[in-house]
Parts: sequence; C-alpha cells; structure tokens
Amino acid sequence: MRITIVGCGSIGSKLAKAADAMSEVKRIYLMDKRKEVAERVAATLNKGIIINSVEEELYHTDLVIEAASQEAAKEILPKVVARGVDIMIMSVGSLVDDEFRSMVFEKARVSEAKVYIPTGALCGCDGLRSASTGGLDEVELITMKGPKSLLGVEYMESRGIDVEKITEKTVIYTGYAREAVKLFPRNINVAATVSLLGIGFDKTKVTVVVDPEIKSNSHELRIRGEFGNMTCHTYNYPEPDNPKTSHLATLSAISALKRIVRNEWFGI
Ligand SMILES: NC(=O)c1ccc[n+]([C@@H]2O[C@H](COP(=O)([O-])OP(=O)(O)OC[C@H]3O[C@@H](n4cnc5c(N)ncnc54)[C@H](O)[C@@H]3O)[C@@H](O)[C@H]2O)c1
Repeated sequence: MRITIVGCGSIGSKLAKAADAMSEVKRIYLMDKRKEVAERVAATLNKGIIINSVEEELYHTDLVIEAASQEAAKEILPKVVARGVDIMIMSVGSLVDDEFRSMVFEKARVSEAKVYIPTGALCGCDGLRSASTGGLDEVELITMKGPKSLLGVEYMESRGIDVEKITEKTVIYTGYAREAVKLFPRNINVAATVSLLGIGFDKTKVTVVVDPEIKSNSHELRIRGEFGNMTCHTYNYPEPDNPKTSHLATLSAISALKRIVRNEWFGI
C-alpha cells in the first residue's frame, strides 16, 4: 500500500514513523505547507518521498491521511474522494458543515472511496456507535483541559480571557457541538466525532472546563438511550511537542492505519 500524509507535525510525524515500520506500507508520500517540516520527517524514514501537493501522486496513492488542520481537510477531502482514493481525517471538525459533508460523502459514494475517522483522543466510541443504532436520548461531552492546551484560542482572546491567569477550575463554554467545534477548532475534534457517531451536531451537548491543576486533558462521554447508559472517562497525556494534541489521538491514527493495511477489523 502507498500512503500520503498531509501534515507532518505532531501526529503526522509519528504516524509516518510507524507506517515506515509496517511491511504492508511500501511508500509514504509526505506533504506539509512548511516544506522543511516534511523534509525533516522524510530524513528519518526509509520509504518517505516529499511531494508539493496532495494531487501530485494521487494516482499512485491508496490512502491519504490528513493530519494538518480543518482548512487542509476541507481543501483535500473533495479532491481525494472524487478520484476514488480513500482518506483518513484527523481534523474531524472540518465535517461540521452539513452541506459540505453531504457533498463529500456523495462523491465518496459515487467513486467508492472510503472516509475513515479514527476515534482520536476519546474512548467509548464503540459503545456510542452501537447504541446509536437503537434510540439515543442524550449525548454529552465534558472536556477538561489545562491552560496550555487552550493558548491562542480566538474565542478566549476575544472575550479577554487569559487562560494562564485562571487559578481555579472554570467552565469556559457550555453549548452544542456545532458551535463548539468552530470555537475550538484545534481542541475538541472529538466533539465532532461524537456528533457523527451519535445524535448529530445540534443535539450533542458540550462543556469545556479549564483546570490549572490537572496534568492530563480529560474527556467524559455520557450517553443515555434504549441500551441503558454509559459514562466513559478518558484521561489523556498530551504530546510533548504539542500540548493541544493528546497522545491517544496519535495512537488512534496509528492503530487505524494498522487495521486498514492489514484488513483486520476486531471490535468493529
Ligand atoms: N481527532 C482527534 O481526536 C484529534 C486529536 C488531536 C488533534 N487532532 C487534529 O489533527 C490535526 C493535526 O494535529 P497535530 O497535533 O499533528 O498538529 P500539528 O500542529 O503538530 O501539525 C500540523 C502540521 O500540519 C501542517 N499543515 C497545516 N495546514 C496545512 C495544509 N493546509 N497543508 C499541509 N500541511 C499543513 C503544519 O505545518 C504542521 O506541520 C489538527 O487539525 C488537530 O486539531 C485531532
């Protein structure tokens, strides 16, 4: 299998390293808007080749993996699926717009391309996916973060909130996933994943809490429905090179790639 990784940052670089060790992966095309970043990653691989745009080797690629940004995902998703190439998306918030999402999935249906969305930084997606096949009454995500992972978020800055000056546990947002994934585009992709798996962006409740005392970012997923109820609490360590990203998100991308290349679907 030949793969293309778009975005060679925290997730992309580790995914590339893991893919390099997979015997099923023959070639890894690497692309980053900062070419030097892709070059640094390629230098550590045996199978890495730099490309300048996702289109460059699209005919030679079996799977494109986006690990860049919502903007990148929005740009490449339609192009990739229209050519019938499979794609894995990490910036899941890019799928919040209903019209855009329908357009992408319609193109994918016609071309028979697959769109993969790893579970990312969240546990409990298996139960949510099964539960949503019956009736679901309530889905709620409570995300707790340390100040560092919310630095530079426009929503906070526009309200004059300096996260580094928060001294006690503080709720900074309550609302629904549709708004939350737009306000925190790099911080709660999992709200988008939960919405897609469960009851949608307009019914999934989201709370974001800042806690200066915590060492790990946590997600509490609460669901109630025909099956019963479930609470699943994930305590994540951040990636050392990017406090906005949880290590589990990187591991979920690697494990998704393993399942795809080996065609092994345990716990599906
Ligand atoms: N699904 C999840 O649970 C989950 C968890 C963590 C992160 N994410 C998302 O995954 C994405 C990658 O995360 P990360 O921690 O690796 O980020 P990162 O900032 O460490 O790396 C992103 C890389 O992508 C590159 N890039 C940005 N825009 C690009 C574009 N248009 N074309 C090509 N390259 C581009 C950047 O130069 C950077 O090197 C982010 O959007 C993040 O929000 C998802």
